[in-house]
Amino acid sequence: MSTNFHTLKVSELQHETEGCVSVAFEVPLALQAEFQYSAGQYLTFKTIIDNEEVRRSYSLCSAPHENNWRVAIKEIPDGKFSSFANHQLQIGDSLQVMAPMGNFKFQPNSSAKQHYLLVGAGSGITPIISILKTILREEPLSTVTLFYGNKGMNEIIFREELEALKNKYLDRMNLVHIFSRENIGVPLLKGRIDAARIPLLLQAFVNNQTIDGAYICGPQEMILAVKDELIAFGLAANLIHFELFHAAPVVRTNQNNEAKVAAFESHIELIMDGEVTDFYLSSEGPSILDAAYKAGADAPFACKGGVCCTCKAKVLRGEVSMDVNYALTQEEVEAGYVLTCQAHPKSSDILISFDD
Ligand SMILES: Cc1cc2nc3c(=O)[nH]c(=O)nc-3n(C[C@H](O)[C@H](O)[C@H](O)COP(=O)(O)OP(=O)(O)OC[C@H]3O[C@@H](n4cnc5c(N)ncnc54)[C@H](O)[C@@H]3O)c2cc1C
Ligand code: FES
Repeated sequence: MSTNFHTLKVSELQHETEGCVSVAFEVPLALQAEFQYSAGQYLTFKTIIDNEEVRRSYSLCSAPHENNWRVAIKEIPDGKFSSFANHQLQIGDSLQVMAPMGNFKFQPNSSAKQHYLLVGAGSGITPIISILKTILREEPLSTVTLFYGNKGMNEIIFREELEALKNKYLDRMNLVHIFSRENIGVPLLKGRIDAARIPLLLQAFVNNQTIDGAYICGPQEMILAVKDELIAFGLAANLIHFELFHAAPVVRTNQNNEAKVAAFESHIELIMDGEVTDFYLSSEGPSILDAAYKAGADAPFACKGGVCCTCKAKVLRGEVSMDVNYALTQEEVEAGYVLTCQAHPKSSDILISFDD
């Protein structure tokens, strides 16, 4: 996994809705192999805003076959990067960008004959539309049902593109808009995508079709509700994939809450780009990522909230615990990977690598 930043130029800006801009980048030929991606993955950006370095991740809304790198950024009130992107960023500007990454990804199989359920809300449509375009183009026998939640018609991101896809793939794509604040005369489609509405939506639009895989992106409560309801509907948990953009911060009350052991110092050796940085860290201190940074390692990160996997590293010796993990798969955790922004020592001697 490459954790280097590359300078990319903004090649196109398009206002998708009043509060959402999509931004395309020119990726030089020499970087195109490194910037290949799977539908659903994201880019991490770094720039200086008001004299402060800001890093944020944005899912690619383009699909791999489009040979294009485009993200869509929805403005959050007082949000540093999203306000900057919506109001200040210009065509020709440069941003520091990491190669695509992320576990929320769809790998098409041209002979598959599946029915996928996609669920997005607000800006959560960005990785979903990439997956949607990939399924429709790369799996000609598969079908898709998309539930897309917004406040109202004017907030629909990619409205025209979605309609065009629906018209092109009439027999294979079912598009269902749900509005929380606009009434279109159908009670089922007025409200949030929540635990009460999902079974009704499934009954009305999925009926007795099987679901072979589900991809969900939106607010945390919606993701959890859809996941639970799909499991109740009979879908195996390993077929339900989701991407979280933001999670409520977790307050560490007791660093060793499993065993309530006394705080201890751990000696940590950290490998990055073949070089070793070593430092001491208290089990009740900051995260391994923050301590590594303080010790001089330019360790990769973006959200610092356990939702992206930019700070992923592998524990080669010793043990660590994580406060939260919304990004790594069970297989990755079992293989020893951790989110260093969430990781704290559980043993006194740790070797951890960003290179593996
Ligand atoms: C893997 C990944 C992919 C992402 N893809 C997209 C995408 O395609 N499009 C997109 O618009 N965003 C996406 N995000 C969210 C994005 O990275 C930023 O978190 C978001 O744009 C806010 O950044 P900001 O600097 O504007 O706000 P900040 O200055 O970081 O925050 C301002 C306030 O808003 C709150 N906040 C931050 N993020 C959110 C959020 N997402 N929802 C609600 N409240 C929030 C903060 O807690 C804070 O109170 C993604 C995040 C991740 C981890
Ligand atoms: S920086 Fe996003 S999970 Fe650690």
